[in-house]
Amino acid sequence: MPITWQDATRELHLHNGRLSLVLAVLENDWLGQLHVGAPLDPAASYRHLGPADFRGFSNRVDDPIGLAVPAPGSGDFRIPALVVEGPDGATVLDLVYEDHRIMAGKPALEGLPSTYVEAPSEATTVEIDLADRISGLRVTLSLTIFEDRPIITRSMRLTSTGDGRLVIRTAMSSSIDLPDGPWELLGFSGAWARERHPHRAPLQPGRRSLGSLRGATGHQQDPSLFLLRPGADEVHGEGFAFSLVYSGNFLAEAEVGPRGSTRARIGLHPDGFAWTLEPGATFTTPEAVIAWSDGGIGALSDALHGLYRERLARGTWRDRPRPVLLNSWEGVYFDFDHRRLLEMARATADLGIELFVLDDGWFGERDSDTSSLGDWVVDRRKLPDGLAPLAAEVEAMGMSFGLWIEPEMVSPRSRLFAEHPDWAIGVPGRPRTESRQQLVLDLSRPEVVDHLEAAVADVLGSASIRYVKWDMNRNITEPYGGSLSPERQGEFFHRHMLGAYELWRRLTTRFPEILFESCAGGGGRFDPGMLAYAPQAWTSDDTDAIERLTIQWGASHVYPLSSMGAHVSAVPNHQVGRVTPLGTRAAVAFFGVFGYELDPRTISDGERTEIRAQIAFYREHRDVFQRGRFLRLRSPLGRDDVAWMVVGPDRRTALVAHIRILARPVPPPDRLRLRGLDPDATYRVEPWPGLGGDAVRRGGDLLMAVGLGLEPEDPPTGAPRGDFSARIWVLTTD
Ligand code: GLA
Repeated sequence: MPITWQDATRELHLHNGRLSLVLAVLENDWLGQLHVGAPLDPAASYRHLGPADFRGFSNRVDDPIGLAVPAPGSGDFRIPALVVEGPDGATVLDLVYEDHRIMAGKPALEGLPSTYVEAPSEATTVEIDLADRISGLRVTLSLTIFEDRPIITRSMRLTSTGDGRLVIRTAMSSSIDLPDGPWELLGFSGAWARERHPHRAPLQPGRRSLGSLRGATGHQQDPSLFLLRPGADEVHGEGFAFSLVYSGNFLAEAEVGPRGSTRARIGLHPDGFAWTLEPGATFTTPEAVIAWSDGGIGALSDALHGLYRERLARGTWRDRPRPVLLNSWEGVYFDFDHRRLLEMARATADLGIELFVLDDGWFGERDSDTSSLGDWVVDRRKLPDGLAPLAAEVEAMGMSFGLWIEPEMVSPRSRLFAEHPDWAIGVPGRPRTESRQQLVLDLSRPEVVDHLEAAVADVLGSASIRYVKWDMNRNITEPYGGSLSPERQGEFFHRHMLGAYELWRRLTTRFPEILFESCAGGGGRFDPGMLAYAPQAWTSDDTDAIERLTIQWGASHVYPLSSMGAHVSAVPNHQVGRVTPLGTRAAVAFFGVFGYELDPRTISDGERTEIRAQIAFYREHRDVFQRGRFLRLRSPLGRDDVAWMVVGPDRRTALVAHIRILARPVPPPDRLRLRGLDPDATYRVEPWPGLGGDAVRRGGDLLMAVGLGLEPEDPPTGAPRGDFSARIWVLTTD
């Protein structure tokens, strides 16, 4: 049993040979955390690692090994996991252990996305009840350990069992204490069009936090936090990854105490949050995912990729090969009609594209981004016969048809807004901030969710629509729930998110055959919460191949390639004006869910031939690109070149890419050492067709220990040199 309880020492040990979490009921009945990280022998006791009792520690030692659920009143002055105001207004808690239940499998979290199991044998869960007898608060801490992943998930359920009202101010999904430093924090930060750039720095005494108060996870910070030992790299060193299965306001924070211990917490952002629990009511936090490894950052990514691809993503499309698509956005923006779209589709069909996606502009009277969001009826000026004939004609050309939609928004210039101005989020009597000339609908109101379900379902049922790009292009600036009482306004952001999840749940359940891709001005809501509904996300509105290197590199720390939409677009690139070779644009976009985003009517015959070859290549290796093991080889940060690779499940196939950002004269000898291959196998190493050059045979051991020759080239290719040039090698065993 991967969770053991020792009666004599009152220890709970979650273990699977990959990691351990040891908790103990202390002498005063509080739940202490003795160890998290390296796997330990489940037969032994670890009581000596923690305090026997906790009270009084604060006067002598400022940062003792902590409690499983630190809260005010425990003599621990560091960042708490839980702050709840009792009926008397006090936040002091005395959380004593009451009971625990160990069970096979993993229960779902009501109303929230979470990881799951397909068979009870895949994971074991313990629910631990703690109670504060004075306030009547019961905390049920839920911990799941997966059978063969170095992963534990954690969430809390709070119940008011007394007869007074409780107000939750802070309820973190996870809080853990690491007794000895130093640690470095790796996070993924950015802005629109440059999401998820990695940032790594040593932790210092005090706090370092990442978070969002935008009503969405946002472009600015990914809801994850890695703690790494100094010197840890892709393959060596100890580290933790904390990742939150949530899409709204979040906080990921680390605090170094006066004596150097570190607390890391992740969960709902406490700022502005206040949730009232009436007697009998329950509140469930989102789920935190905790991964540990001493095999470097790459091993943490392996763990997250596997879990998110296999046991967070769900539904028909989880394991299906994702189609190569052409998206109309950068090709024609709002400027299209039925005839033009058919011309585009015709120019697309013989390239090997499998899915033709009509982006923004097909509804209401939307000729620009100034109107019509909310009016999900076809614009008959552009599409006089509606979507059905268009979809049918696209299908007749051998492609399926997909559509863009942005359900959570409303334009002030729309019928919906004229009819229901109160459905848009804002504080009555105060001005509302517009962003992209649009407002956000209040999804904390059930009638808005009902309306949107019906409106979107009407569209999706009106034609043969096989794919939906669900966009969300602005954040919430004046939070206020129109149907919430003044005392409950602190619940607004989370209630809005629960409404959004409910809408996603209903529509993805009603249309199980549709492939959903989430989007928020690119990667503004690319998070584990969304992945539970949409198995892929539009990674960034920046389609420039060179910018994408850092974006995709950063995103790959948490997210599998099967979740990262990546498209080849026209040059000069629309975001940065850069001109890169078509081959390089494809070489970067191959490492994701591949597609094109350009006007196929404008490309030359030569480019068409090249694109055909690119698509054939991707389709041939799609399974490896979308489901293989991704390994980061050379970081784009501070370098002139980038390399990464993906290895098929049985290590018989691998695809390696090297992208030169700036070419330099008289380059030093350089070899690219590969990883993840079978050292005993001989690989046929073939330069990407079209680059020229003959295949050679090389041992897996040699390719990993000595590497592929970059300078001089070994094997030699006819690949163009120069700025922004790319090389790909296909490795196969016999
Ligand atoms: C957002 C998306 C883009 C595109 C536009 C349409 O910016 O990220 O890909 O769909 O909206 O308005």
